[in-house]
Amino acid sequence: MSPLPPRHIAVIMDGNGRWARQRDLPRSAGHQAGMASVRECVAGCLEAGVGVLTLFAFSQENWQRPADEIDALMTLLEEYVAQDGDELRRQGVAVRVMGDLEPLTPAARAAVDQIQHDTAAGTALLLNICLSYGSRAELVRAARLLAEEAVAGRLRPGDIDEAMLTARLYTAGLPDPDLVIRTSGEHRLSNFLLWQLAYAEFLVTPVLWPDFTRENLRAAIEEYMHRERRFGRVRAGT
Ligand code: FPP
Repeated sequence: MSPLPPRHIAVIMDGNGRWARQRDLPRSAGHQAGMASVRECVAGCLEAGVGVLTLFAFSQENWQRPADEIDALMTLLEEYVAQDGDELRRQGVAVRVMGDLEPLTPAARAAVDQIQHDTAAGTALLLNICLSYGSRAELVRAARLLAEEAVAGRLRPGDIDEAMLTARLYTAGLPDPDLVIRTSGEHRLSNFLLWQLAYAEFLVTPVLWPDFTRENLRAAIEEYMHRERRFGRVRAGT
């Protein structure tokens, strides 16, 4: 049993499209409805004293979705910044966005810059939004950074260890997620935090993301606290 709540929760928010289809609505309506669950999760983490919440909002593969769906998702991000920025700051939430932000529109880039700047002083919760994010690309980026430092003579390849690679990921300085939640019943990691989730507890819920509430989060934390984490070791006393 883990007597403490997770320090870091990561969430693969899945099922928006199915939620919309069940109601004969466009997929974008599912994403719109999913914003309420984002707010629920932030509130739930604040209540439970979770320090870091990482949300998988948009993968690098998602750029292959229809243009109108991509536009709708970027607009949601901009609306979130405009509508929730003050409240997040008041709640002490610091927002950070991680991923390859190069392909974002200038308006989406500006929204990212603004929310990161406006909330930088928050200490109650770090909300990491993975946007245009892919874990393999993140690892390649870290490998390139290490290679550049080796070529510049600042480190020796034989000295590279796990901590040095970890320090070159977007998540540098953060504890690894203790718990990863995937909604909508799918059992996949989908190129999300492959390095960081090495020892995370995995919880799959059938609930579609727009239906996911603070109560679902509370239940997930409760289940996590009943899991026995062994990190490759044997149970104490056996
Ligand atoms: C997966 O559902 C969900 C996404 C690709 C997008 C999730 C994004 C949000 C809820 C908006 C987040 C924005 C901020 C600012 C945090 P899916 O479309 O793959 O669903 P399906 O598998 O049922 O088709």
